[in-house]
Amino acid sequence: MTDNSLAIVILAAGQGTRMKSATPKLLHELAGVPIISHVLATARELDAAQVITVVRHERDRLVEVISAELPASVVVDQDEIPGTGRAVELAVAALPAGFDGDVLVVNGDVPLLNAATLSNLIDAHRAGAAAATILSTFPADATGYGRIIRTEDGSLDRIVEHKDATDAERAVSEINAGVYLFGLSALRDQLAHLTTDNAQGEKYLTDIIGLLRAAGSEVAALSVAQSWLVEGINDRAQLSEAAARLNALIVRGWQLNGVTVQDPATTWIDLKATLAEDVTVLPGTQILGATAIARGASVGPDTTLVHCEVGEGATVKRTDATLAVIGAGASVGPFAFLRPGTELGVDGKIGTFVETKNAKIGEGSKVPHLSYVGDATVGVGSNVGAGTIFANYDGVNKHSSVIGSHVRSGSHNVFVAPIRIGDGAYTGAGTVVRKDVPAGSLAINVAPQRNIEGWVATNRPGTDAAKAAAESGE
Ligand code: UD1
Ligand code: MG
Repeated sequence: MTDNSLAIVILAAGQGTRMKSATPKLLHELAGVPIISHVLATARELDAAQVITVVRHERDRLVEVISAELPASVVVDQDEIPGTGRAVELAVAALPAGFDGDVLVVNGDVPLLNAATLSNLIDAHRAGAAAATILSTFPADATGYGRIIRTEDGSLDRIVEHKDATDAERAVSEINAGVYLFGLSALRDQLAHLTTDNAQGEKYLTDIIGLLRAAGSEVAALSVAQSWLVEGINDRAQLSEAAARLNALIVRGWQLNGVTVQDPATTWIDLKATLAEDVTVLPGTQILGATAIARGASVGPDTTLVHCEVGEGATVKRTDATLAVIGAGASVGPFAFLRPGTELGVDGKIGTFVETKNAKIGEGSKVPHLSYVGDATVGVGSNVGAGTIFANYDGVNKHSSVIGSHVRSGSHNVFVAPIRIGDGAYTGAGTVVRKDVPAGSLAINVAPQRNIEGWVATNRPGTDAAKAAAESGE
């Protein structure tokens, strides 16, 4: 049910300079989902009356992602005045006139924050009498974060930013998590008093705590035991740590759902992937995007699947595949490269050192060894000989090949597209197929072989080859 006395403000306007990236910080991904989308998804779970997201740096790129993830969010543009305090000031100004509840402010760079942690904060705030309740935690390394300064009796006094802190303050290991719940009127009163008089020349939201306290209001900090839940991402080291945490949770979730994951440390599963019961995932495997793996399939080792479908009981070994569909009972790899548009039928095979692209290979058909299949359709029950190249590119345009059902093509063929090979046809080893082959025919175009007897004895006398030939008695 919608919480009509809750508004959520998500701060997403910062530059994220510590990422040192052309990609805005909040669009860097964990488990295949941008940082900001994780936060928006959590916000959605709380079902607040209003969600406001504040943007500025690369705002169009951010807005595109925000509208996709949480279209109901109102977007507010931050102006040239920097700082989290300014961002909240503008968000508060955009609240509907009639709103008079609590304002939950969340930094946009806290992707592992979950709705349960936020609900605890909301409950604690509403049960107490504080004008503001914030989340704090004790990370392994507090460097860079704002420190929680408490009075001698242990109550929350103020927050000091790392860059403004004295050595004694920097020695404090309790940090501000960047998640705050404010009563609207108390917040509004104090926002008016923020200044940019600090090391970074920004309006710090964190100053509100000290200001409230000085004005005689109560403020409280709720400590989160598992610091990773609330750690903000500022650089790529923190990003990889958070991504590993999230991945461990995802892998464990699938394990508890009946998936065998032999080596969780080298298995990466994106948030949108799905795995059925009795799937086996072997070490060194990435299951990315919206990949779906059906019951009993085995994937890995050393396999990357991006937006793929793997059918029931299929086996995929040492393979790189993107936008490919692998049928039930089919076998792929080792060392296969499946590019977009590959569709392998039920019980089909794409074997060792085989590359496919935009290729529909029918039920039970096999491409076992050393081949390239591009822009092709292969019917059912056909076998493509070892070392076959579908020559789909004439240097200007791409063309298609159609291979019928129950075809047996010889080794080391070239199919020069456009070409059609009829049902049940055969081709000889080494054939370059340039013309259509009617159903049931044998196509062969290699020149007849000539043996020049005694050539070695005449032209390579005294060599080991000549001796071996002489000794063979033939
Ligand atoms: C902030 C806190 C710090 C806390 C830490 C927790 C302040 C002043 N400091 O520091 O006490 O320990 O988070 O992770 O708030 N943003 C805006 N507008 C701006 C600047 C930032 O919307 O003008 C957004 C950013 O996009 C980001 C969030 O606010 O999502 C936090 O900004 P960031 O620069 O990461 O602040 P920290 O230095 O991490
Ligand atoms: Mg941060």
